[in-house]
Order: sequence, then C-alpha cells, then structure tokens
Amino acid sequence: MEQTVRLAGGVEIPRVGFGTWQLTRRAATDAVRHALRAGYRHIDTATLYGNEAEIGRALRDSGVPRSEVFITTKLPPERVKRARKTLEQSLSALKVPSVDLWLIHAPPPGQELITAWQSLLAARADGLTRAIGVSNFSTAQLDRLANETGEMPALNQIPWSPWDHDPKRLAEHQERGVVLEGYSPFKRSDLRSPVLAEIAAAHGRTPAQVVLRWHLQHGIVVIPKSGTPARIDENLDLYGFALTDDEMSTLDALA
Ligand SMILES: NC(=O)c1ccc[n+]([C@@H]2O[C@H](COP(=O)([O-])OP(=O)(O)OC[C@H]3O[C@@H](n4cnc5c(N)ncnc54)[C@H](OP(=O)(O)O)[C@@H]3O)[C@@H](O)[C@H]2O)c1
Repeated sequence: MEQTVRLAGGVEIPRVGFGTWQLTRRAATDAVRHALRAGYRHIDTATLYGNEAEIGRALRDSGVPRSEVFITTKLPPERVKRARKTLEQSLSALKVPSVDLWLIHAPPPGQELITAWQSLLAARADGLTRAIGVSNFSTAQLDRLANETGEMPALNQIPWSPWDHDPKRLAEHQERGVVLEGYSPFKRSDLRSPVLAEIAAAHGRTPAQVVLRWHLQHGIVVIPKSGTPARIDENLDLYGFALTDDEMSTLDALA
C-alpha cells in the first residue's frame, strides 16, 4: 500500500497523520517533535486547538524540512466573515508561508456555507494553501458546495472507527472523489473489545494498531492523537502487517 493518497487536484496526503487536539503548550511541542522524529509526515491542527505556534516550533526543532511535512489547519465556522485573516493568523503562528490543507472545521449555517468555501477557493488561488476541504459535512452539504461553486471539497474529515463503519457513506465519498479522513479512531472504539483483542493477538499487534490498519485498508486517512511517546511510535507502525478479508468483515460488523 502506498503511504500517501492523492487528493483531487494532485496533492499527496500521507495516510497516517498525527492528531493534536487537546495537546497544548509544552505537551504539544514535545509530542509533535517526537512524532516528526518518529517519522510522521502529516500533522492535523486547527485554529480552535490553540497549538499552532507550538506545532511550528516543534517542526523547526525537529530538523525535518517543511517541504516534507503535510500540515492541515481548520477555519472555525464562526470565523467565516474573517476567514482570510484567520488563515493569516494560522500561518503566522505556524511560521510558514502556506499550509497543505485548509478545512472548514464544521458546516456554518445557511449561505455562510458557500461564502466560507469561496474563501477557501480564494486562499488556494493565492497560494496560502495547497489543497482545501471540509470537516463534519454530510454528503448533502458536500453536494451543495459542488453544485453552487463548481468545486467539490478534496477531503471530508469526519468521526470514524469500526463502530461507525457505514459502507454507504464511505461509497458516497469515493463516488465523488472525496477522500474520507477519519477522526477520533480510538475514542470511538472499544479498545478492550474481545474481537479486537483476538485479531490483534493473531498478528502480534495491539488493538489500537488493528483499528488504524482497518482504516488504511478501507482507503481512509486516519489521524490518531497521543501524548505518549511509545504510543506515538506504535500508531505509525502499521505497514508491517495486513488484515485478512475475514478480519476486515468481522471489524466492519462491529458497527
Ligand atoms: N474535525 C473535528 O471536528 C475533529 C474532532 C475530533 C478530533 N479531530 C482530530 O482527530 C484527532 C484524533 O482524534 P481524538 O484526539 O479525538 O482521539 P483519538 O486519536 O481517537 O484518541 C486519543 C486518545 O487515545 C489514547 N491513545 C492514543 N494512542 C493509543 C494507543 N496506541 N493505545 C491506547 N490508547 C491510545 C490517547 O491517550 P494518550 O494521549 O494519553 O496517549 C488519547 O486518550 C484529533 O487529535 C484532532 O486532530 C478532529
């Protein structure tokens, strides 16, 4: 399996990213620096996480070139009227001239859904972000953007885990060329499930690794968060084993 997936428009996104919600101050810098040194090349943040400056510092500390790291940040829905200013604040906190992916964090109400998307289109045209997408959007909301502006988001970041598995919704993304990025893979799973334990034991892996590998085999980009160095390493070590078709079906059936 390739370690990246191509977004509509051609930008490559690493399939495993590092989630940073609830990592702040020193904990954020330490965790992100560790993640980059461990080999993560995709970091997920948001204006609302309040940790963009720490992530920028970790990136500079890590010695990993900016060009090798995929950075996502997100526009809060209540900042639609100040969208460009908000992105400029993200860039200045991160101390980078552009990000790789800018998302609308959640659907704003009414016509602001469209004005928000137009701000993202303009930011990309001006070189402030390489790709654009959304988060917490329904399929109908994706279609509304495409119908009213002519451009479908490249990616939708939504809650996902074996317990959320919804083949119809996954197919709706695939049919539209929208990459599904799953968030909260562990919080939405029962990591003590005997089903997970049995599959994990069969591969000499942990339940957490089985959950993440299940995402990858469904073509879903996944962004686990951890503030614990050993878990940060564990959550990236996913390419040395593969789940069987039977195991995938068993996990699908947890939903
Ligand atoms: N777009 C949105 O609205 C939205 C919403 C939620 C999340 N997100 C993004 O998605 C990322 C991931 O979601 P999340 O932070 O909600 O939750 P998550 O990644 O599902 O779970 C994080 C929790 O799992 C624990 N954990 C991590 N690795 C583990 C392992 N190998 N074994 C056992 N436990 C492990 C962590 O503990 P320790 O940290 O103590 O190791 C932490 O308590 C966020 O950080 C954020 O970037 C986006």
